Amino acid sequence: MFAARQSFGVFQKRAFSASARQASKVTVLGAAGGIGQPLSLLMKLNPRVTQLALYDIRGGPGVAADLSHINTNSTVTGYDPTPSGLKEALTGSEIVLIPAGVPRKPGMTRDDLFNTNASIVRDLAKAAADAAPNANILVISNPVNSTVPIVSEVFKSKGVYNPKRLFGVTTLDVVRASRFISQVKSTDPANEAVPVVGGHSGVTIVPLLSQSNHADIEGEARDALVNRIQFGGDEVVKAKDGAGSATLSMAFAGARFAESLLKAAQGVKGVIEPTFVDSPLYKDQGIDFFASRVELGPEGVEKILPVGEVNAYEEKLLEAALGDLKKNIKKGVDFVAQNP
Ligand code: NAD
Ligand code: LMR
Repeated sequence: MFAARQSFGVFQKRAFSASARQASKVTVLGAAGGIGQPLSLLMKLNPRVTQLALYDIRGGPGVAADLSHINTNSTVTGYDPTPSGLKEALTGSEIVLIPAGVPRKPGMTRDDLFNTNASIVRDLAKAAADAAPNANILVISNPVNSTVPIVSEVFKSKGVYNPKRLFGVTTLDVVRASRFISQVKSTDPANEAVPVVGGHSGVTIVPLLSQSNHADIEGEARDALVNRIQFGGDEVVKAKDGAGSATLSMAFAGARFAESLLKAAQGVKGVIEPTFVDSPLYKDQGIDFFASRVELGPEGVEKILPVGEVNAYEEKLLEAALGDLKKNIKKGVDFVAQNP
């Protein structure tokens, strides 16, 4: 185990202004991985974070030692899978980020990762339910449409499930959507917001261009843009050619979501992020989880915003998404029932 504390420079003043009430411990499970390392770096740079706990089956203490030399005012601690390592990493945590698990190789779907990642996420969820039952759990490990229900089933089985504190991280889909539409329209992505609803794989990713600044995109241009947003992950998997999937853009997206939650917890109002949550929106169709815009607050989910008005084209996309989503969610729920 490694611990260090540094405090210098520009972050010092802001960090000291955080009161004890605002102390925020963030834990990263899978911290030595392709996402885990840059995500941990971004958390180390976040002045709202006072304690950073980094766990991995290998390499957690090394990453912690490295990050601990950065002169921001947070403690960094690394943990190996010793009997107490995971428990210590989780105890007292406000936010638990989970990027643990294997990434895709070319030719694979996210669902192909299920056999390996389902048990990894189940076991980490068990530890989190025991050691940090009130934490916000942010699931990055794929397939998100199934791993989020796995976490909810584990928490239910331990009697500590709080649907307001479980999030599938789908931020990368809106990050991509805003970037890709800005490339089509030659605009600044900072001014582009495209709601993306549904889930996080292929056709379950439903961009709502009609609700963006560019409802006028139609025909082939629209089809190509929607396809790029839905399959943006494949673009990176292909380019990395066997060396994994998106890591840096994902770290950026995960850090943005964690920052939004921390901001909301510290009293900032009107913080809205897209995320895959236990949602009432399609429960009448047997779909218990759905990604949409969610207002965050001190208790986690404050308000789940409706999908809003969609056009006939988007209605069709939604129909296709709901079919796949239902199967993906059931797969996660069944896995925990059969492999408790
Ligand atoms: P990676 O292989 O580079 O890193 C994964 C890390 O998890 C490794 O360091 C590994 O040692 C660790 N790990 C494995 N089993 C563990 C366990 N039981 N406990 C703790 N740590 C464990 O992979 P990556 O590129 O960082 O991707 C991680 C996951 O994130 C993949 O499943 C990938 O598909 C997913 N992902 C999701 C999104 C999203 O938008 N939600 C985006 C990109 C990647
Ligand atoms: C992504 O969207 O980049 C991730 O889900 C990783 C992947 O497998 O594509």
